[in-house]
Amino acid sequence: MSMRSQRFALPMREAILEAGKGRFDTYPNPSVGAVLMHDGVIVARGHHDHAGGPHAEIACLQDAERKCISPRGATMVVTLEPCNHQGKTGPCSEALIRAGVSRVVIGASDPNPKAAGGAERLREAGVDVIEGVLEPECRLLVADYLTWLEKKRAFGMLKLASTLDGRIATRTGKSRWITGEAARSDVHRLRAGIGRAHGAILIGGSTFRNDNPQLTARGEHAGGPQPKAIVFTTTLPDAGQDYHLLRERAHDAIFFVNCEEAVSDRAKALRDLGVTVLASPAGPDAPVQDHLHFLAEELFRQGMPYLLCEGGGRLGMRLMEAGLVDLFFLHMANTIIGDKEARPLFDGRTPDSLDEVLKLRNVGTRLVGQDLAMACLPANSWLAPSVGELTALHGESTLWLCDTNFPPIPGQRQD
Ligand SMILES: NC(=O)c1ccc[n+]([C@@H]2O[C@H](COP(=O)([O-])OP(=O)(O)OC[C@H]3O[C@@H](n4cnc5c(N)ncnc54)[C@H](OP(=O)(O)O)[C@@H]3O)[C@@H](O)[C@H]2O)c1
Repeated sequence: MSMRSQRFALPMREAILEAGKGRFDTYPNPSVGAVLMHDGVIVARGHHDHAGGPHAEIACLQDAERKCISPRGATMVVTLEPCNHQGKTGPCSEALIRAGVSRVVIGASDPNPKAAGGAERLREAGVDVIEGVLEPECRLLVADYLTWLEKKRAFGMLKLASTLDGRIATRTGKSRWITGEAARSDVHRLRAGIGRAHGAILIGGSTFRNDNPQLTARGEHAGGPQPKAIVFTTTLPDAGQDYHLLRERAHDAIFFVNCEEAVSDRAKALRDLGVTVLASPAGPDAPVQDHLHFLAEELFRQGMPYLLCEGGGRLGMRLMEAGLVDLFFLHMANTIIGDKEARPLFDGRTPDSLDEVLKLRNVGTRLVGQDLAMACLPANSWLAPSVGELTALHGESTLWLCDTNFPPIPGQRQD
């Protein structure tokens, strides 16, 4: 980053934190944040709150107006290039020119060809434009949007909780609770976001049978729409069995099976309960990743933009190998099971050499209560090269866990 760009790293960090406030509410739009500065001091803030609502730049100008602050001659710092097209709202580039902003600092360019061109339009109008400030962070911020645009599938997240020795359950399948209350509350917040976005949570058949989970957002994060719950299995349960997903959430439950199982008597009985049985068009002998790719694409076609896998270790491994884990979240407790038969964090590979290990890039770490929360970008993710190396702000990507508790730095002088 050049010295000129470096000057705007801190306000860009603030804009990134603003953007995180819209996480899971903006589909099909990206999460974008902006701050307005006068003489090196942040005087207004804004973020894109929901699709159809004002873009971050406009929300920021509105915040300035509410505070009776003129944007004339000010610097706008925004995580994504201002749009240059007439969508549901007018072009932000024109709004910034009209407002008299003299400089616009941009994090990432807009990957959507329909909306791009804002930087060029601003320059034409005589506005000083600085691009690429904390670009990797700003691209990571819109990893979901990049995936929708480029891959036309649900954005894939994998979330697991392990002990310090990498175990997700005892050898008898007991996993409640590996982590503390604060980490579990994080998960409920994440589920609530997925629910608001009409996304889905995915588990393997083994986790379904062992844990009998509800897969709902509960506690202080209850109250909104709940996420759909998908079980990937070769064998459907009987409709009469006493599972939470069958008894309490039949209309939200989706069993994803091969085409033979989808026409079985068990499938018919489950459908009578209101459960969806979704068949993979790939044959029963097809590689698992063919089924999983179909699932991620089908969910997107049906308007479900997020797929959060909550385990277990075998399904997580398959998703990771299929390149469908765009972000991996780990909550690691400071406990040790110490049993090699206990269920491992990942399972199902037999590499002979360390050259064959799957690599991940840590993009954020923080403590949640006594547990360590990590966010990682798998190196085999198609996003990894496009995001690039994060520069300075290790930790921001835990915003993906919807953490907006980073303290703002109001009035921070930048020069
Ligand atoms: N700590 C945590 O974060 C956490 C989270 C989740 C789970 N867990 C624990 O993890 C344990 C389960 O993990 P796990 O690794 O044993 O299993 P898992 O990943 O939950 O399940 C793998 C399942 O995927 C299904 N599957 C595999 N290939 C398939 C195919 N080609 N078509 C359709 N379905 C296919 C199978 O379901 P069927 O067997 O039904 O065919 C298989 O059981 C449980 O004890 C649970 O408590 C812990």
